[in-house]
Amino acid sequence: MLAQLIRAERFGEPRDAFKEEAVRIPELGPRDVLVYVMAAGVNYNNVWAAMGIPIDVIKTRMKKGEKEDFHIGGSDASGVVWATGKDVTNVKVGDEVVVHCGMWEPDDAFVLAGKDPMLGPTQRIWGYESNWGSFAQYTKVQDHMCLPKPPHLTWEEAAAYMLVGATAYRMLHGWPPNVLRPGEPLLIWGGAGGLGSMAIQIAAAAGARPVAVVSGDSKNEFC
Ligand SMILES: NC(=O)c1ccc[n+]([C@@H]2O[C@H](COP(=O)([O-])OP(=O)(O)OC[C@H]3O[C@@H](n4cnc5c(N)ncnc54)[C@H](OP(=O)(O)O)[C@@H]3O)[C@@H](O)[C@H]2O)c1
Repeated sequence: MLAQLIRAERFGEPRDAFKEEAVRIPELGPRDVLVYVMAAGVNYNNVWAAMGIPIDVIKTRMKKGEKEDFHIGGSDASGVVWATGKDVTNVKVGDEVVVHCGMWEPDDAFVLAGKDPMLGPTQRIWGYESNWGSFAQYTKVQDHMCLPKPPHLTWEEAAAYMLVGATAYRMLHGWPPNVLRPGEPLLIWGGAGGLGSMAIQIAAAAGARPVAVVSGDSKNEFC
């Protein structure tokens, strides 16, 4: 498959660090899914991976025993299920999906005990702390990461919201009893950004009163 690869010898500005290369399609474990990528979203973690700071994601993974000396980033995607591992039951070949980026080991006792997987010891961010992200023809994900693609969104729209949307949602609704309630005011710093634009919509949907800070008049209409 073709992929936008980062290699350690190219660490630096993303325009230099990413290069199109042909690599093998990753093998699937029993609970893995291969998704044919229709659109990929860009996040800051891809910039960090390209620059090799604050961590060298390739070296970090190789120290844990992975063989690949390259990184395929990309933590947002929409696409079509292309193949499934033998124990996958929640999706089938041909399903149109959006991918969330939280990964953990299937046998993580913390997660199996019903605790918050984002706080578990094996939690990783797909396409940053894992290889085989969405900047390629195919991406390897875990079965639970596949969510239905909203039919009214284009592929590009569907690939844009999950990481920022889930992050903003978690901040506003994920820590009961300290959750956003109807009528409450909310200051959103950086309202025109990825997280900020999602936070405005999530707050409005909750009946709260979002107040956004932006850098200039040109951002007002967007917010
Ligand atoms: N993307 C994710 O999923 C994710 C997940 C976890 C944490 N984060 C963190 O959340 C933060 C926002 O991420 P993002 O993806 O939403 O980034 P983004 O789309 O680039 O948005 C950043 C916003 O910050 C504002 N900003 C930039 N420099 C500023 C400054 N010096 N003072 C005040 N505001 C400034 C910008 O405002 P204007 O547009 O008005 O110029 C922009 O809207 C980052 O710190 C990121 O590391 C992101």
